[in-house]
Amino acid sequence: MAPNKAGDELVFFVNGKKVVEKDVDPETTLLTYLRRKLGLCGTKLGCGEGGCGACTVMISKYDPFRKKILHHSANACLFPICALHHVAVTTVEGIGNTKSRLHPAQERIAKSHGSQCGFCTPGIVMSMYTLLRNNPEPCMEDIEDAFQGNLCRCTGYRPILEGYRTFAKDMNGCGRAANSTGCCRSGKENTMNGGCCGGKANGPGCCMNGKEDSVTMTSSSLFNSSEFQPLDPTQEPIFPPELMTQGNKQQKQMCFKGERVMWIQPTTLNELVALKSQYPNAKLVVGNTEVGIEMRLKNLLYPVIIAPAWIPEMNAVQHTETGVTIGAACTLKSVEEVMKKAVADLPPYKTEIFQAVLEQLRWFAGPQIRNVAAIGGNIMTASPISDLNPVLMASGSKLTLVSKEGKRTVTMDEKFFTGYRKTIVKPEEILLSVEIPYSRKGEYFSAFKQASRREDDIAIVTCGLRVLFQDSTSRVKEIKLSYGGMAPTTVLALKTCKELTGRDWNEKLLQDACRLLSGEMDLSPSAPGGMVDFRRTLTLSFFFKFYLTVLQKLSKSGTKTMCQPVPSNYISATELFHKDPIANAQLFQVSSSFPKTEPSSYSPFTRMSRSAFCSPINASSPSTQASSSQPFVLLQEVPKGQAVEDMVGRPLVHVSAAKQASGEAVYCDDIPHYENELYLTLVTSTKAHAKILSVDTSEAQTVPGFVCFVSAKDVPGSNITGIANDETVFAQDVVTCVGHIIGAVLADTQEHSRRAAKAVKIKYEELQPIVTIQEAIEKQSFFKDIKRINKGDVKKGFEESDHILEGEMYLGGQEHFYLETHCTLAVPKGEDGEMELFVSTQNPMKTQEFAANALGVPSNRIVVRVKRMGGGFGGKETRSTVLTSVVAVAAFKTGRAVRCMLDRDEDMLISGGRHPFLGRYKVGFMKNGKVKSLEVSYYSNGGNSVDLSHGVMDRALLHLDNSYNIPNVSSMGVVCKTNLPSNTAFRGFGGPQGMMIAECWMSDLAQKCGLPPEEVRKLNLYHEGDTTHFNQKLEGFTLQRCWDECLSSSSYHSRKKLIEEFNKQNRWKKRGISIIPTKFGISFTVPFLNQAGALVHVYTDGSVLLTHGGTEMGQGLHTKMIQVASRALGVPTSKIYISETSTNTVPNTSPTAASVSADINGMAVYNACQTILKRLEPIKQSNPKGSWEDWIKTAYESCVSLSATGFYRIPEVGYNFEKNEGKPFSYFSYGVACSEVEIDCLTGDHKNIRTDIVMDVGTSLNPAIDIGQIEGAFVQGIGLFTMEELRYSPEGNLYTRGPGMYKIPAFGDIPAEFNVSLLRDCPNSKAVYSSKAVGEPPLFLSASVFYAIKDAIYSARKDSGLTEAFRLDSPATPERIRNACVDIFTKMRILSFAECERMDTFGYRECLSEKCAGYVMTWYHLD
Ligand SMILES: Cc1cc2nc3c(=O)[nH]c(=O)nc-3n(C[C@H](O)[C@H](O)[C@H](O)COP(=O)(O)OP(=O)(O)OC[C@H]3O[C@@H](n4cnc5c(N)ncnc54)[C@H](O)[C@@H]3O)c2cc1C
Ligand code: FES
Ligand code: FES
Repeated sequence: MAPNKAGDELVFFVNGKKVVEKDVDPETTLLTYLRRKLGLCGTKLGCGEGGCGACTVMISKYDPFRKKILHHSANACLFPICALHHVAVTTVEGIGNTKSRLHPAQERIAKSHGSQCGFCTPGIVMSMYTLLRNNPEPCMEDIEDAFQGNLCRCTGYRPILEGYRTFAKDMNGCGRAANSTGCCRSGKENTMNGGCCGGKANGPGCCMNGKEDSVTMTSSSLFNSSEFQPLDPTQEPIFPPELMTQGNKQQKQMCFKGERVMWIQPTTLNELVALKSQYPNAKLVVGNTEVGIEMRLKNLLYPVIIAPAWIPEMNAVQHTETGVTIGAACTLKSVEEVMKKAVADLPPYKTEIFQAVLEQLRWFAGPQIRNVAAIGGNIMTASPISDLNPVLMASGSKLTLVSKEGKRTVTMDEKFFTGYRKTIVKPEEILLSVEIPYSRKGEYFSAFKQASRREDDIAIVTCGLRVLFQDSTSRVKEIKLSYGGMAPTTVLALKTCKELTGRDWNEKLLQDACRLLSGEMDLSPSAPGGMVDFRRTLTLSFFFKFYLTVLQKLSKSGTKTMCQPVPSNYISATELFHKDPIANAQLFQVSSSFPKTEPSSYSPFTRMSRSAFCSPINASSPSTQASSSQPFVLLQEVPKGQAVEDMVGRPLVHVSAAKQASGEAVYCDDIPHYENELYLTLVTSTKAHAKILSVDTSEAQTVPGFVCFVSAKDVPGSNITGIANDETVFAQDVVTCVGHIIGAVLADTQEHSRRAAKAVKIKYEELQPIVTIQEAIEKQSFFKDIKRINKGDVKKGFEESDHILEGEMYLGGQEHFYLETHCTLAVPKGEDGEMELFVSTQNPMKTQEFAANALGVPSNRIVVRVKRMGGGFGGKETRSTVLTSVVAVAAFKTGRAVRCMLDRDEDMLISGGRHPFLGRYKVGFMKNGKVKSLEVSYYSNGGNSVDLSHGVMDRALLHLDNSYNIPNVSSMGVVCKTNLPSNTAFRGFGGPQGMMIAECWMSDLAQKCGLPPEEVRKLNLYHEGDTTHFNQKLEGFTLQRCWDECLSSSSYHSRKKLIEEFNKQNRWKKRGISIIPTKFGISFTVPFLNQAGALVHVYTDGSVLLTHGGTEMGQGLHTKMIQVASRALGVPTSKIYISETSTNTVPNTSPTAASVSADINGMAVYNACQTILKRLEPIKQSNPKGSWEDWIKTAYESCVSLSATGFYRIPEVGYNFEKNEGKPFSYFSYGVACSEVEIDCLTGDHKNIRTDIVMDVGTSLNPAIDIGQIEGAFVQGIGLFTMEELRYSPEGNLYTRGPGMYKIPAFGDIPAEFNVSLLRDCPNSKAVYSSKAVGEPPLFLSASVFYAIKDAIYSARKDSGLTEAFRLDSPATPERIRNACVDIFTKMRILSFAECERMDTFGYRECLSEKCAGYVMTWYHLD
């Protein structure tokens, strides 16, 4: 049938309401439609590429084949609106709200403190909701899996899992469904290593025995689950009956036409074949998870799209004689179901390949992607890092292709892929189905994948490895080794396979296989994707794992073989990566046996996990917990007798949490559109350093909806901007980084402005860029103002030292990855240059000042308003002004409201991040580890402007001691000027970098002395009354207490012994442990910023409107301020409201930063309240029994002002670098963390097994918020030190521009056991109500994970005979871990390039066999 020329009507349902859309543009996504057309802004845009889950919705449809309603989660940002015909969509608004009733999935995340900034929350709620719709009684494993496609940057995930654990049927168990796979109750296969509690089934401490060892589990929790609404599946909205009827009818071919794209949805195979013959270049789209990305991020345009999802043959599944045939449009979710069923139904020997498919699918994207993406899409994308293609290739799967010419079947072999993303399939052909074969007797199959992050990440190297043995022997009959990530296509190692055929499965075969593979799976040093050594090593490591796995299976199968059994210490190398269940956290009264501290008026709770009772030492089991330990973690409680309505010190839920969970909370881009509003898209430089020769907007002007181009000549005021006045609003003649803003396009819609911006042509004359710190040092490209802190006599210190050690450490930067990108809405008021700016910023004052400066108006014409941010972390302290000034200029020029929310890739490109640091050190120390003298130079990469780089470097220098007393110090801090976007503030503000380098030399020093690192650290810790290298006396120094409590509560010493035992028993898996302190100085180091203001209005009904200078970015500042005001005024928190932060209520606000916002704004609020109270005093005295409302009424009627401002400045702070005198900090926050990890020495994977934190937060204003800050900061730090890696080209182009390339920690990356305690009895006289700052200080504690990894690597290296200190830069990625675990496989690689290439007269292969065989011969008996 020919497509309908006019276009069809699209019919679907949203939250039960029917939508009929006559004018559908196939380029529109469901997300855009929901937000713009339906005004349903609860669904958020976090990335637009399926990588964050903020846009998760539930899709429901009637499946006429299965006669069933199916619900699944999906990413609205990739879901084409045209794919919605006869489908029902449920958004977060559709399931509950604060006005009527929250759905339990909304209520529980809010009440369990699982929502901080809230930008991720609706997406997480919808993932949970969809799971509950499909399975009202999930187990914990189902819940964890449901979140594989959701990211949160604030919470550290634990409170979310804890809140949702209350839905789990196994909520009181070990974290796995009782008796399910992995639970110790199950007695199933994979509990061979101990299941959930390391094989202690029914022993003391096992979750099976119902006993809780000797700890009393009596205390309260941070939330009260008995308050939760029960889940009642009968109350869920019903599936629209109309869609059931429609679903039973034959669909008719549909066609939708937009400005540039036509979407055709045929219903029969014949129609499809005819269409493909008519439009051979048309794209077939099922999940749109590839095509959507190509169109959005790669700017590709596909004018004709054909959607085959309705065609029965393409959705069919058939079991044949030889295997299972799966229709190409079957989603990965349905493939998973089919494979699971086959594995359950068929004898195991037949399902080796199916199990490998399941293993790959386990780590394939998140559920939102797997629910919509098709197997055919994965094959036909022909990506070299596809996860399924190596399995399909190694298994010899068969593909059926169909076209007008008929059908043909091809085998997925070495001929199938013809080049990068190319196959032998002809343009007019369609992939109809794929047949995955059964495995045969004597056939074994493994699949492996290594990525930067375990969950939801694309592979670095992936493979499918198959061997078939001759009947009842260990002689290879057939072998197929297929790798992805090693060439432009998925490849077969043909030569290796040929040579191994006919050989016995033994050591010699292994040696030859490695030799051959290293020659065949080769990469040039400049191969795209980098990580060349790592990728080459992985090919061998995977084969080694496969070799051992097969060996083990052969021995179990009873086959008579000549091969040796797998040594017991090698067995853990055969285990597939699996997550440990996240422990069940609870609050406990401290055990009476707690040895160190006395009870006090600040009585403690204990927070701990049940799995802490378990004591495994085998691989694949949770924490190496000493069985004798009494786990206890402390949390403060309010003093006895505190009035119930006094909320200070209580775990009050974040005041916006419920609104955030229901999607009602309004973020900047959720503000309804103004009439005539324009959308702005930036035009930025594609060169790091260049002269601008010309800017041509002629093509852009032809794009529909184009309004104008804005550039430097449109700036009415000054084009010069920035903290140091060294930036431009728009670049004029020269660009100094990729992403430098040159201009902006204004158009009627976001889509039009994007298109027009892409059409702007810029010509450059390129200049030499400086990208790295090393290049800047070579070229002496520094920002002026090199800071130094010197103390004592360094030279003498070195002379007196027993040892001197020199070294270097590099720390990579970090992207803020707030879930809400930068956003501004500028509304000109039409009078006297007045403008209202709605901005996602931490810094209303600078936003106002810079915008006024650019517009050439006084600051009093500009009002900046900040309701809330979807995260900030320092990234919105100054860099938000870069966008705001541009939007303000555009609004000024056009006189119309202008909006811009950066796309994730733009945001990552232009807004800078944490400064990368290079630290060079020379440390002198005694034999016992006591440090005598330190000389350090810090170099940071500041980027192309000063911004806050000097402040960041100052803090790094002020933290170069971390927590150690160093008598003689000479230090220097240099900020490098480079051609990267200006780096800026990021939680910790240089402190983590300064401290990390200290821990580096501390760890090397301990190694050099041959002493345990914890002893050396403890020996060097400061004591009360010591002075720091910047001459500040330490008073109220609680770090020693934190240290002792952490050492004790983590059972450090006994676990360390068990770890040593574990490491002896496991050659290829190693565990490590580390305990790290932190001391973090509190105050802005720029003294005048330590001020704050507040404004309190009391209305005649007694309600209070509170405003203060701080902004809410999720950290719970407004909640804490309400608590402060509530206690100060003596009114319930429910009477107090904070609407927003604005420059017309509290002027000249310091940025919300440096962790001091609660301290300074809290005091300002307190002072304002005191003013009101003083005025009320006579009224209260004359009516002591009156209520608050009575007093307020009287006050009003007595003409007493009920409005007051408050102001506060931190006294006596200020430091002089030249003289090394003064006080940079008001006080310090302290903490200690102990972390245990397990690494896979062969792949570089690591697991965070357990972390214990003891943190001094003074007397907590709100323990739930403070614990949330600690957990969130810690997990962000895990990202910084182990995972997040920004990669640039040598030309200064950022490669890692979105969640697809840049990996922040996901749900699965948090420590399986995560115990956080707040130190008791440590009131702080320097801050409001004795509290302490908490936002930044805990971040550095994640260094304990990094040094635990280093500890584990030391053990691996020891097995290879290496005991010296080694360099490990940060982050400790799988690549760095694997490369540091030097063994025969890594050595083999070095030989192949370092030596073999030089010996080309012998030929490459011969050389390898000569040189490398030596290593291979020795590897197996290394121990
Ligand atoms: C966040 C995210 C995570 C991802 N993670 C992974 C991962 O872990 N591992 C991995 O391998 N991939 C991953 N991918 C890639 C992608 O999801 C898969 O390749 C997926 O299987 C594509 O299926 P689709 O239905 O969405 O393809 P679509 O985008 O609909 O189509 C992809 C391509 O296949 C062609 N095509 C589709 N069906 C046919 C057919 N029957 N005949 C001919 N051509 C056809 C299309 O024309 C198009 O060129 C990820 C993608 C995203 C966005
Ligand atoms: S916005 Fe859709 S997944 Fe991030
Ligand atoms: S609460 Fe999850 S991103 Fe902020």
